[in-house]
Amino acid sequence: MTEEVREWWELTARSFQEDIDLDVGVNWTGTTTDDDLSLLPDVAGEDVLELGCGGGQCSVELAQRGANVTGLDLSAEQLSFARDLAAEHDADVEFVQGDVTDLGTFPDDAFDVAFNAYVFQWVGDLAACFREAHRVLRTDGRFVFSMPHPVYGLAEPESHRVEESYFDTGRQVTAYDDLDADMVTYRHRVSDVHNALVDAGFRVERVREPGSDDPADYEEGPWGERRPELLAKLPSTLIFEARQE
Ligand SMILES: C[S@@+](CC[C@H](N)C(=O)[O-])C[C@H]1O[C@@H](n2cnc3c(N)ncnc32)[C@H](O)[C@@H]1O
Repeated sequence: MTEEVREWWELTARSFQEDIDLDVGVNWTGTTTDDDLSLLPDVAGEDVLELGCGGGQCSVELAQRGANVTGLDLSAEQLSFARDLAAEHDADVEFVQGDVTDLGTFPDDAFDVAFNAYVFQWVGDLAACFREAHRVLRTDGRFVFSMPHPVYGLAEPESHRVEESYFDTGRQVTAYDDLDADMVTYRHRVSDVHNALVDAGFRVERVREPGSDDPADYEEGPWGERRPELLAKLPSTLIFEARQE
């Protein structure tokens, strides 16, 4: 399962990084490049693990804020961008190739913070990932992540009609004529994510669904989101803030 996701990222990492050309920063929502949500203040001196660091833009930002950052990703191509970015910004980040569902390279109680932005739509076995995140975090450690809100993708982009079922969860395959691999993603219900966190031993402190009902509030984001009318109707991002206990 993970292998098909890795293959996709090895194939598309270069065009992804060139197309979106993300700034260094924590892009929680995909519709703004600002860390305006202040989700991870005060990370200086903390041991931080990014679970799916991609091109390293978030890891480098947190290293610049004084955290000791480890960035983990499935894709060697993504990690190669991340290493170059860290070198360009003179940021000291350790990058490791691996799967968020098996953090066996890290000992128990190794981190104060685990986080990611827009990674869990690629992960089928969230329960395994959350168990591992719980294991490697210290007591009271923060686990913060954003992901595509599962209701947003159900609406047809032009008509805004709901064309797909919220209850059709699990593996979704999208084929592209010009690529040799299919894009495999996973749909998780909000309750599934919440309950998997609780089952892994986390205390969920906040759930956020950032957004506004005014289309004028949406700028084109780093992923080229150009649907302000739809964004003003449905939340596009789901955020969890949890604590290890
Ligand atoms: C959309 S990118 C997001 C990266 C980064 N947060 C950003 O803001 O650009 C998703 C990343 O998740 C990684 N990924 C997907 N599934 C993974 C898994 N099971 N383990 C580790 N990384 C994974 C992919 O390789 C890819 O680099």
